[in-house]
Amino acid sequence: MLAPKARGSLSEQVLAALTSGQVSPTLRDVEPDGPEDAQVTLWSLYELHYRGFEDVDDTLEWHPDLLAVRAGLEAELEADLRERCPEVDLGDDFAAGLFSFIEQHDGPSVARFVQRDATHEQVMDLLRWRSIYHLKESDPQAWVVPRLSPGPKAALMELQYDEFGNGDPQLLHAHLFAQGLAASGLRPDYGAYIDEAPVEVLEENNAMSLFALHRRLRAASLGHLAAFEATSSGPSRRMSRGLSRLGFPAEMSAYYDEHVEADAVHEQLAVRTIAGAVVAEDPSLVQDVVLGAFTCLDLEDRFAEAALARWGAVDA
Ligand SMILES: [Fe+2]
Ligand SMILES: [Fe+2]
Repeated sequence: MLAPKARGSLSEQVLAALTSGQVSPTLRDVEPDGPEDAQVTLWSLYELHYRGFEDVDDTLEWHPDLLAVRAGLEAELEADLRERCPEVDLGDDFAAGLFSFIEQHDGPSVARFVQRDATHEQVMDLLRWRSIYHLKESDPQAWVVPRLSPGPKAALMELQYDEFGNGDPQLLHAHLFAQGLAASGLRPDYGAYIDEAPVEVLEENNAMSLFALHRRLRAASLGHLAAFEATSSGPSRRMSRGLSRLGFPAEMSAYYDEHVEADAVHEQLAVRTIAGAVVAEDPSLVQDVVLGAFTCLDLEDRFAEAALARWGAVDA
């Protein structure tokens, strides 16, 4: 993947520094023009820790001036996410409380719109936007593994072993999505559509990296995972039905069909055996789990609102 296009003054300077290798301490003083500029910059800096860019030197991954820019953007993002998150009392039964918190959350659903009303073109938009995460599916949560004690670590590995194909690269969820994209006439390569990703998609991806790359936020990462898995099975069924309604190829539906079954299991693992175990060990982490879960739901609402607005559609 090549470095993305700039979306403002900060990303322009940071991306120029990345591709030229000329990193200056003055980058720390550049303010982003707005959310698009901030999020694409942060996304690009995070990407150095995943697969990197063909036109960026790998040695820049840990450059102190770039880390300083990243830290400033992360502080703003974290403060914003914390400010939006309500105080929630999950009660004495953590798993029941978390499931009910997630279930009670009500927001617009892109999957419901796809099932009933979306056009072929709108679903093509959606698949391009979703590709930013689905082509690196479960990668962020892998950063959390070494930060856990044996119980939740084994459970997270069980979940991720499934996400990563049970030992078969053909069955990696990211690979299933790539095959679906290719069969649908879209580019299956990692990051291909980053320049058209809406800011809400960048923010969803950045929140996952933020939580996962900071050990102190590990419970937020697991809360995010719990909400993600617990809101996947039903919408995946709706997506699959919508794709069939519109005549999309079987490879594309196969990705969603896999998630109808898999995520019904993953949600139990994520809520009970992973997040539940972490909170049992350290009850002070409950509010961080809530932060992660709420952020997952809230950012998906914001994405759904933006996507539906762009299409001039409503989720009825
Ligand atoms: Fe998956
Ligand atoms: Fe899953």
